[in-house]
Amino acid sequence: MSEERFYTKCTLIHDILSTQDGGASLSGKRATVGGWVKTGRQQGKGTFAFLELNDGSCLASLQIIVPSAVAEQAGLDLAKLVLTGTSITVSGTLTTPPEGTKQKIELRAEEVKDVGLIDKDEYPLPKTKMSLEKLRDYPHLRVRTNTISAIIRIRDELSFATATFFRSKKIRHVHTPIITTSDCEGAGEMFQVTTLINQTEKTVPNKDGKIDYTKDFFARQAFLTVSGQLHAETLACGLGRVYTFGPTFRAENSHTSRHLAEFWMVEPELAFADLKYVMDCAEDYVKFMCKWLLDHCIEDLEFMVKNFDKTAIDRLTKVAETTFKRITYTEAVELLEKVTDKEFENKVEWGIDLASEHERYLTEVIYKKPVIVYDYPKGIKAFYMRLNDDAETVAAMDVLVPKVGELVGGSQREERYDVMVQRMTEMGLPLEAYKEYLDLRRYGTVTHSGFGLGFERMLLFATGMDNIRDVIPYPRTPGKAVL
Ligand code: 4AD
Ligand code: MG
Repeated sequence: MSEERFYTKCTLIHDILSTQDGGASLSGKRATVGGWVKTGRQQGKGTFAFLELNDGSCLASLQIIVPSAVAEQAGLDLAKLVLTGTSITVSGTLTTPPEGTKQKIELRAEEVKDVGLIDKDEYPLPKTKMSLEKLRDYPHLRVRTNTISAIIRIRDELSFATATFFRSKKIRHVHTPIITTSDCEGAGEMFQVTTLINQTEKTVPNKDGKIDYTKDFFARQAFLTVSGQLHAETLACGLGRVYTFGPTFRAENSHTSRHLAEFWMVEPELAFADLKYVMDCAEDYVKFMCKWLLDHCIEDLEFMVKNFDKTAIDRLTKVAETTFKRITYTEAVELLEKVTDKEFENKVEWGIDLASEHERYLTEVIYKKPVIVYDYPKGIKAFYMRLNDDAETVAAMDVLVPKVGELVGGSQREERYDVMVQRMTEMGLPLEAYKEYLDLRRYGTVTHSGFGLGFERMLLFATGMDNIRDVIPYPRTPGKAVL
């Protein structure tokens, strides 16, 4: 049998430190590791240096001892190697550190290679802590901090949990387009995609004073998608059960800690399912993710608990085990109208779109667990939601969770052609842009439902971070996009 291949020359620090005895049993073995110096110091009057080396594979760093003679062989000065941010590849022997040391294993360098030096007067990340807000100016470097690397690892686990959950339910992963010609939410919050203004002539082609989109790349107007739902619906009406997971874009001028202009959404779409089935699906999926994190990344979660949110692990544990409360919008409004111990900024009355303060009150104060609110007034919801028999409400649902508020938004889709055309007309939507979507209702229409889970909202919930800008590697918000 051929030997397993690893694709880099380095052993992961995680693989060294995660043995049951914290690496102790590896003493005497040779290893090559590569990473970035977290902290370093010279000792023994400059005869050797201690480096705390982190390679991103886990929170912990490996202690490296570099004798000055080894550094000299590589033409390097120990004083430069110890600087925070320096990258280095080292080969040597794993050895047991002196008694009383926290780590159970360290690496004695015998050869130092591939060093990337830094200019300490210019390197923006200090050895000490920098505020999360300041770190946002350096998305290309902040991944080297314990906080951001832990979050990105948790993000990866959630992504894998998502694939695992849907695969276990035989729900196929499909890829829906990023560039689209229709506005899924009908809210007009789309970024336009055009090559018209890139052209060297400084004018945009126009016809009768209007921009002539027949001259544009797609010969019609195109946008970045706000949701993969419409395409997922078409694929579900053939494949049966699908989900799409991708970036979505909203050109809304929201400056909150829960909104991004580019965020990732997980969107299952299930044929032969009414609203109840997708409520079950959303509940099971959220619980599955909570359990997954508790089983697969407890070290990073403990770091979040210690540094950011004492309740993060408790919250995940509780949600993994609890049954979500389900109430109608009408019941939710009645409950909120009775609240006397709190003054809401936004008045509560039937017909309003629940504000974040209302959502959080329901889930954090009244029920102290996730709440699914369903059957919303049609006036505040999107055109594709199925009109209920009362003709006032639609079969929509939102999953509200503590810490975040709205985590999931979904609905049963209107499958009746005439009802949908009437609703779209009332809302002033251009029917021609939705021709294929409407075709679904003409050719073998079927009851179907789906939802969208805001992936960064799930990360806020899991990590206890307060700001959505810190749970995505490259946040895009009004007025700000770095790199
Ligand atoms: O409620 P929304 O707008 O629903 C849809 O887009 C549907 N088409 C989804 C579907 O049924 N397939 O968005 C879904 C979720 C929200 O519940 C929220 O968690 C998240 O996406 N979300 C945002 N997350 C970050 N920044 C924003 N600007 C967000 N807008 C929505
Ligand atoms: Mg919503």
